[in-house]
Amino acid sequence: MPDLTLCEMAVDVLTTADGFEKTAKSRTYAAAWFAAREAGAPIDVGRSVPPLRPSRPEKPELLSPRDVPKRKPGSPQGRIALLHAVAHIELNAVDLHWDIIPRFAHIDMPLGYYDDWVKAADEESKHFNLICDCLKELDSFYGALPAHAGMWKAAEDTVDDLMGRLAVVPMVLEARGLDVTPGMIEIFRRANADKAVESLEVIYSEEVGHVAYGSKWFNFLCGRHNHDPKDTFHTLVRQYFHGALKPPFNEEKRADAGLPPDFYWPLADQKPARTR
Ligand SMILES: [Fe+2]
Ligand SMILES: [Fe+2]
Repeated sequence: MPDLTLCEMAVDVLTTADGFEKTAKSRTYAAAWFAAREAGAPIDVGRSVPPLRPSRPEKPELLSPRDVPKRKPGSPQGRIALLHAVAHIELNAVDLHWDIIPRFAHIDMPLGYYDDWVKAADEESKHFNLICDCLKELDSFYGALPAHAGMWKAAEDTVDDLMGRLAVVPMVLEARGLDVTPGMIEIFRRANADKAVESLEVIYSEEVGHVAYGSKWFNFLCGRHNHDPKDTFHTLVRQYFHGALKPPFNEEKRADAGLPPDFYWPLADQKPARTR
């Protein structure tokens, strides 16, 4: 492998269009990063300009969310559509975790911050591959159906605000994944789709870590700037996230990820069932 900086690796992943090629590069670079860390000779973080939008394959066709056909989750076609939507989210997540590295490389951060996002990107790559295996078992593939356009919006909105990025991406969007994944696992369990159940369980357990990285580094930056984390979180989510957060929340997993109820309940479109 040529001597790339971490930011150059990130830009290489971001500018690779094919999904499998993207995840293969992502996993190779993550392994190189951690091997160098272990050897005590970390790869230089460097600087590199990431594209405003990552390269993506020609298919799936990207449609506005209201034009993506809805299918009943109880049917085989519905389960394919659900897995296809998850694959799309995972591929987007690969790019999100690599993007945060070069996008904000001008901000001085500890090496552990890079460890966390490289690990998260590696896990998202594994998630994409796992879900593509599930689609294959059902005679489908990523690209067979249309997918949501606008998934990159959160990244574009927070292109020059690291704390905004952390608030919206890991602490709102990925935390939402913790809320909805158990229901999805149940759908596949009822259909005796063992491979999908297993894959979604891997995703569910690893996503807690991604939300935790978000809250860890968000709190770190609040400490650096002497900001109140809860108030800052509310301000940034209201600024960058369009719409209210949707209960029910997975309070247990959110707590495991360092996200207390007084962070998200005030942003919800309902009141909590009991007073806290
Ligand atoms: Fe994931
Ligand atoms: Fe994630």
